[in-house]
Amino acid sequence: MHVPSVGTGMWATDFASTFPSANVVGTDLSPIQPLYVPPNCRFEIEDAEDEWSFPYPFDYIHDRALATCFKDHAPVFQSAFNALRSGGYFEVQGVVIPFRCIDDSMKGTAFERWLGLAK
Ligand SMILES: C[S@@+](CC[C@H](N)C(=O)[O-])C[C@H]1O[C@@H](n2cnc3c(N)ncnc32)[C@H](O)[C@@H]1O
Repeated sequence: MHVPSVGTGMWATDFASTFPSANVVGTDLSPIQPLYVPPNCRFEIEDAEDEWSFPYPFDYIHDRALATCFKDHAPVFQSAFNALRSGGYFEVQGVVIPFRCIDDSMKGTAFERWLGLAK
């Protein structure tokens, strides 16, 4: 099983430890991942917004906490779907921005102001 994951490397190393038969590829813009990782885990410096050129299809692609990372998510998601083998999974764990509140308790807060600036 080939599994790519973007980010700090923690999720990728945990996943690789839990599933020793999987080949896990972690990617990020910068080399911030740990040096000592399970033998079935490796990291590559990649910009997910560039064209994906992995030489094999993936069984599972994991995306977590990348809501603020891309100019446009649609092309990145398309790249992920194109990189899956038939029947593979693309899982996204993230937040929807702007954050909303079920009541008025956010009104007038610095957090509400920050959300307005982040648009
Ligand atoms: C909030 S962290 C999330 C890390 C990881 N997915 C996790 O959940 O632990 C966002 C990461 O995405 C990386 N990143 C931002 N833009 C990227 C891009 N275009 N391509 C690849 N990685 C990117 C950042 O360098 C950062 O390490």
